[in-house]
Amino acid sequence: MSRFRAAALAFAATLLPLTAGAAEQVNVYTYRESKLVQPLFDAFTKDTGIAVNVISASSGLEQRIKAEGDKSPADVLLTVDIGRIDEAVQAGITQPIGSAVIDETVPPRYRDPNGHWAGISMRARVIYASKDRVKQDAITYEELADPKWKGKICIRSGQHIYNNALFAAYVAKHGEAKAEEWLRGLKANLAQKPSGGDRETARDVAAGKCDIGIGNTYYWALMMNNDPDKKPWAEATKVILPTFQGGGTHVNLSGVLLAKNAPNKANGVKLIEWLVGEKAQQIYADANYEYPIRPGVPLNPTIAGYGKLTADPLPIAQIAAQRKTASTLVDKVGFDN
Ligand SMILES: [Fe+2]
Repeated sequence: MSRFRAAALAFAATLLPLTAGAAEQVNVYTYRESKLVQPLFDAFTKDTGIAVNVISASSGLEQRIKAEGDKSPADVLLTVDIGRIDEAVQAGITQPIGSAVIDETVPPRYRDPNGHWAGISMRARVIYASKDRVKQDAITYEELADPKWKGKICIRSGQHIYNNALFAAYVAKHGEAKAEEWLRGLKANLAQKPSGGDRETARDVAAGKCDIGIGNTYYWALMMNNDPDKKPWAEATKVILPTFQGGGTHVNLSGVLLAKNAPNKANGVKLIEWLVGEKAQQIYADANYEYPIRPGVPLNPTIAGYGKLTADPLPIAQIAAQRKTASTLVDKVGFDN
């Protein structure tokens, strides 16, 4: 039996009391690992008395909620990346959260103008630079296409959701034609065919295959603090927070959505509001090495060590709107070939 199937059966079992009108509960579908989110949900239950039933999977949750239709037990979908957030909205499985608390707490650029999603933490897409070979401590995304980096850049697939959002941000800021030119320049600077994940990108910089790699902020912290095998990859590199010319650093979200047919809608909204509270924000951002969405919450020390994040002001919804264009351009320039 697959882990997912086992989890699904266990989940079905937890739902039985619901039909019998038992204690207050909320059902969360999530792509986040349970060990990362369970402490948070335990704290929520302690605060509110509302039990949290968790379905955790690495893919297919939107399709599952869609297939379950109006009988879906899903109340809240907790996911990462605007790509997946956007896919959930496009699948028609969400409804407006309709919460004044969310509207007051989450900055407008980190939530859906139509209210279907809200960010609860941020990650930035940054540079892992060789400590030995890269002297500069500042860089722009535009500069990544400069021929001075020829043969020196490593990156994962251009179609991966993390790069798709970065490239979509480039389209949103500079327009499609300039984005295409930039992608061609970046492609020409690659040391090797796009491959692996962000950790392997750090590995390849550490091994001297490239001087700079592109990766998310939390991977570097995970390698440095939680993974002794990969710690040398972090130690060989420094994190540089790149900026767009005249703008800031590209950030993406981990976010929440309220399911369209949420059977425990009020509890779902309560959970979503609780997640942006000061306590939850600190637990969540610290456990995942992410940036809190709520202003004023202290950063994890490793993350703070990257330097002051000036997030680009572009609303995340405008990035979502260019995802398809970015994906088409990646194919057009043969980025992954
Ligand atoms: Fe990731």
